[in-house]
This record gives sequence, structure tokens and C-alpha cells, in this order.
Amino acid sequence: TLAHQIAILAGDYIGPEIMASAEKVLAHTAKKFDFAYETTAYPFGGEAIDKCGDPLPQSTIDGAKQADAILLSAIGGPKWDAAPKRPEAGLLAIRQALGLYANIRPTKISESQVDDSPIKPEIVRGTDFVIARELTSGAYFGKPRELAEDHAIDTMYYSKDEVERIMVTGFDMAMQRKQHVTIVDKSNVLATSKFWRKTAERVSKRYPKVTVDYRYIDATTMAIMTQPTAFDVIITANLFGDILSDEAAQITGSIGTIPSMSAGAAGPNLYEPIHGSAPDIAGKGIADPIAMVKSVAMMMQYSFNQPDIAEAIEQACDQVIAAGITTPDLGGSATTDEVTDAIIARI
Ligand code: IPM
Ligand code: MN
Repeated sequence: TLAHQIAILAGDYIGPEIMASAEKVLAHTAKKFDFAYETTAYPFGGEAIDKCGDPLPQSTIDGAKQADAILLSAIGGPKWDAAPKRPEAGLLAIRQALGLYANIRPTKISESQVDDSPIKPEIVRGTDFVIARELTSGAYFGKPRELAEDHAIDTMYYSKDEVERIMVTGFDMAMQRKQHVTIVDKSNVLATSKFWRKTAERVSKRYPKVTVDYRYIDATTMAIMTQPTAFDVIITANLFGDILSDEAAQITGSIGTIPSMSAGAAGPNLYEPIHGSAPDIAGKGIADPIAMVKSVAMMMQYSFNQPDIAEAIEQACDQVIAAGITTPDLGGSATTDEVTDAIIARI
């Protein structure tokens, strides 16, 4: 069939609420731009634990692998805190099962968002960078891993191939952007970080047009607040990227606005907001759908090569924020549905 196949993993708590928004926006834009698609939903996370006893059932892996792209919402929550396998384990497992080693998290502030930022306008204006986070290795996956009564072990492991391929992703991205890369590590302490730096120096030779900065993770957390416009592409390890991307999201005033793409060597990419399932506001109809809707835009851009659709969705989101039609996380009083309808009205 000619229709693009999209796997839908709606997840838990606010997950299904914002996925419904994304699907509405998708249906509207597809009709308007004559984009043929079909969706298939699969159980994932806590929902899948309840239905199948596993946060990532084999049927979900199979379905996701067959799709052209995957839309994932958010998973986890207090309901499964005591489960033997938590929903989060499903998220890590799907990233690994699909080989999604490169996680791209953009932080871009439009003029309409400048006033929502906790950072002064003159500092934040013009911020536009992406974090290329390594996603299938490092401290999240290294062995041995042990949790005993009197000690615990995590292992931060990186192979040459693992570091090299995320470097290539980041440098390639930089070539499409402002040709600047910042390698973020802790190479004054960690062996893996020294290894990252060496690898970066080697890979950078293939990209003579790209300027490279090296920064420590601790200093970078400050620089993101004090000089966010100094960055174009940040390339960093799994754990550092997790932390930095939440911090970076705050530049826009809410983590509810940041989408992401996870990509691998082969197979479909996965698109998801960087935020969690927000159990505290679930069921109230006030979850911010922007990050999920912008994940649809990223999917259109990178999986389906539809820059016009991506641009239309992005712009509609920005216009809605500019019009003050926002959920409480951005200081507004609109509902998820009202924001969704307002986005659709502007596409
Ligand atoms: C994220 C999340 C996940 C991560 C959790 C839920 C396992 O925080 O996507 O950033 O740490 O990668
Ligand atoms: Mn995170």
C-alpha cells in the first residue's frame, strides 16, 4: 500500500490525551496536504503491563519495526512503581530493539515564546540549538549493573563505533545548520569522556567547515542559562543528554513544548515529546499538546520528507502560543482541546 504506516504508542496518564491531539492535527494536515497514511496502535508502557504483563510486548516490537515511523507519547507513573518491570524499562527496550542510537532534541525559541522564558529576553532571544544525545549505550545500558544491600554498580561503557556514529549524526546535523558543534563531556574525570574527545577530534577532521568547542557538562549547565545562543549542535552521552535536555527545555518556559526524534541506522525513526506522563495533571484535560504535535512535525520532516507540512505545523504552534492560547504550564488557561483546535485552525 502507498499509505505511510505510522505506529502509535499512546502510553500512560497524559499520554493518550496528547496523542489524541497529535492524531487530530495529523488527520487535518494529511487531508489538507494530500498525505496518505494509516495508523496502528500498540500497547506500550504501563498500559501494556496491565494488558500483557510486559511494558514492551513482542507484538509491539514487531508492529513498530514494520511501520515507517513511530509516534510515542509518554509512559510510566505511580501505578506501576512497584511493578517488577517498570514502564520505563519498556522505553529503554524499544530504543534498543530498534537500534535508535541518536536522539535529537531541539531547543528553539520563537519571538512569541521570549516572554514565557524564565531567562531575560536579551539573553534568550535567537536561541536555536539541538542536542544530539547518544541513546542506546552509556550509563543507561552498561554492564555490570547491580543493586545489592551494601553496594550498587552502574557501568558507563562506550565502544568506538557507538561514539563515532553519534558524532557523525551530530556533525552531519551541524552541516545542515550553523556548522558549529559543542562536545559536552566530563573529560577532566571520566575515561569514557576522554574517549569521546579523542573520537570527536578524529571525526571533526572530516568536517573542515564545522567549528568545534569542547565543554565540561557542569560548565555547560551554566552556559545553557547564561549564553544559550552560543550553541548549535551539542553532542553528548546518554545520561548527560538526558539532564541537559530537560534544562534546555526550560528556556522555552515549559518542557511541554519540546519534541524529539530517535533515529538509528535502519528502520523507522521514533518521535516523542521529551517530557513524561505527568500523572499530577492527567485526566484534567490541561496537558500541553505542543511537544507531541511538534513531534508530528519532526516526523513529517525527517521520516516523510514533507518540509512544508512540518513548517505549517510548527508555525501554527508558534502562532497559538503568540495568541496566548496556552495550557497552564505556559501560564494560560486553555485546555488541551482548545490548544489543539487553535493549532488546527491555523494550518
Ligand atoms: C527521557 C526520559 C527517559 C530517559 C526515562 C523515562 C527512562 O527521561 O526520554 O528523557 O531517561 O531517557
Ligand atoms: Mn529525560
